[in-house]
Amino acid sequence: MSVTLRTMRWWDIEPVLRLERVLFVEDAWSDTMFWSELAERESRHYIVAVDGDDVVGYAGLCAYAAEAYVQTIAVDPARQAQGIGTTLLTTLLDESRQRGCAHVDLEVRADNNGAIALYERHGFRRIGVRRRYYQPSGTDAVVMRRDATAGERR
Ligand SMILES: CC(C)(COP(=O)(O)OP(=O)(O)OC[C@H]1O[C@@H](n2cnc3c(N)ncnc32)[C@H](O)[C@@H]1OP(=O)(O)O)[C@@H](O)C(=O)NCCC(=O)NCCS
Repeated sequence: MSVTLRTMRWWDIEPVLRLERVLFVEDAWSDTMFWSELAERESRHYIVAVDGDDVVGYAGLCAYAAEAYVQTIAVDPARQAQGIGTTLLTTLLDESRQRGCAHVDLEVRADNNGAIALYERHGFRRIGVRRRYYQPSGTDAVVMRRDATAGERR
C-alpha cells in the first residue's frame, strides 16, 4: 500500500490520539484539543497520512494573515524515516505559501534532534528558547522560524 495525504476529519481523532499518546507521552494533546483545532476551520489546516485504512501520520498548521504556526507533526514510529514526515511538512509549507504567510513558526523540544534536523533542512532557523516550556518535564522549547523566502537544504 502507498501513503496518501488527505484532510483530517473528526473520525481521524481516535487513531490520531493513539499515535499522539505513544509519540508525545506526557506532552500528548487531549481529544478536546484536537476537536477544538478541527472546529477552527478558517485558520487551521490539518492533514493525515493514510495507508489504506491506517492513519500513519498527521500534521496541523495554524495561519492568521501573515503568520503561520506548525501546531503538530507526527509519524507512526513503525513508519518513520520513510519520508512521510517530510511530505507532511512540505504540504503545510505549501499551504502557508498559498495563504500568503510571510513566515512559519514552530516550537520543538530542545532534545528532539530528529525533528530539529528536519526543520533546519527545510529552511527553519532558531530564533529563541522558551525555558521549561514543556511541563511537567520542564524541557525547554526551541522556537524556530522559516521565512517565506527561505530555501531548502539537502
Ligand atoms: C519528526 C518526525 C515527524 C519525522 O518524521 P519521519 O517520517 O521520520 O521523517 P522523514 O522520514 O521524512 O525524515 C526526514 C528527516 O528527519 C530527520 N529525522 C527524523 N527522525 C529522526 C531521528 N530519529 N533521528 C535523527 N534524524 C531524524 C532526519 O533529518 C531525516 O532525514 P533523512 O531523510 O536523512 O533520514 C517523526 O520522527 C516523529 O513523528 N517524531 C515524533 C514526534 C515529533 O517529535 N514530532 C515533532 C514535534 S515538534
